[in-house]
Amino acid sequence: MEITLTGKKAIISGSTTGIGYAIAKGLAESGASVLVNGRNEKRVTEAVERLKKEVPGAEVYGFAADLSHTEGVSQLIAYCPEADILVNNLGIFEPKPFFEITDEDWEQYFQVNVMSAVRLSRHYAQGMVKKGWGRILFNASVTAGFISGEMVHYGATKTALLGLSRGLAESVADRGVTVNAFIPGPTLTERTDDFMRRNFAESGKTFEEAEKETFQTYLPTSLLKRFIKPKEVADLVVFLASEQASAITGAALRVDGGIVRSIL
Ligand SMILES: NC(=O)c1ccc[n+]([C@@H]2O[C@H](COP(=O)([O-])OP(=O)(O)OC[C@H]3O[C@@H](n4cnc5c(N)ncnc54)[C@H](OP(=O)(O)O)[C@@H]3O)[C@@H](O)[C@H]2O)c1
Repeated sequence: MEITLTGKKAIISGSTTGIGYAIAKGLAESGASVLVNGRNEKRVTEAVERLKKEVPGAEVYGFAADLSHTEGVSQLIAYCPEADILVNNLGIFEPKPFFEITDEDWEQYFQVNVMSAVRLSRHYAQGMVKKGWGRILFNASVTAGFISGEMVHYGATKTALLGLSRGLAESVADRGVTVNAFIPGPTLTERTDDFMRRNFAESGKTFEEAEKETFQTYLPTSLLKRFIKPKEVADLVVFLASEQASAITGAALRVDGGIVRSIL
């Protein structure tokens, strides 16, 4: 199966690093023109340059905007009014005990993780429906299904995204636009790598030893017994964005190394 996305325009929210960057790269490698986004202008420029170097000939754009509020989303829409593929990748997370999560934290998590996706999807889905072709994807997390007591606010936003994804799929049914969620498990982004190295530096353990211990102690249900690579998540997203995935819509697909002990 050869995936070709030539002629398709993709927007990936929160994509200057981590899973978002890997998705932008995967889509660009398949021929799509990609728009990367983050809040920081310098990091956006660096990501665009890096992507152009890593995928020679790729059509890459960058737009710095904070998508946690209407104004930032409107600026992005003004810069790029149409897209064939929208990947709602943006999401923030940080452990915090439930009793310390303030109203402001809740508001911020819903604005960044959920409302950015609502606002972007509401706009871009309409253009896709007019054209009769489109792909909208939401980055959920295994947390959406079993919310950990350490990050209730994060988990709740990810559960909301699953509902949003299914509801939007219903809203655009039979118009050539598919809408799906993808569910990564623990993924080795630059941030996770940095966290692991800092946490285990003092013990003198190698990264591999630390990873093994992490999975044995904290993530024992993982069948993979290692972190997922951002590219492994991106490969699923590229497939879901392709013509070949035309019959998949309203679904939530896991790329979690089998960490969820359930077949369905
Ligand atoms: N990492 C994991 O193990 C894991 C597992 C499951 C699901 N996920 C999900 O995957 C997604 C990406 O996670 P990640 O770990 O790859 O993230 P990450 O490496 O922390 O990347 C964050 C990206 O988002 C941008 N960003 C942050 N706030 C923004 C805002 N308000 N507006 C626009 N851009 C913003 C950052 O750029 P600036 O800082 O310049 O704004 C950066 O490009 C999230 O939805 C997360 O929930 C992650």
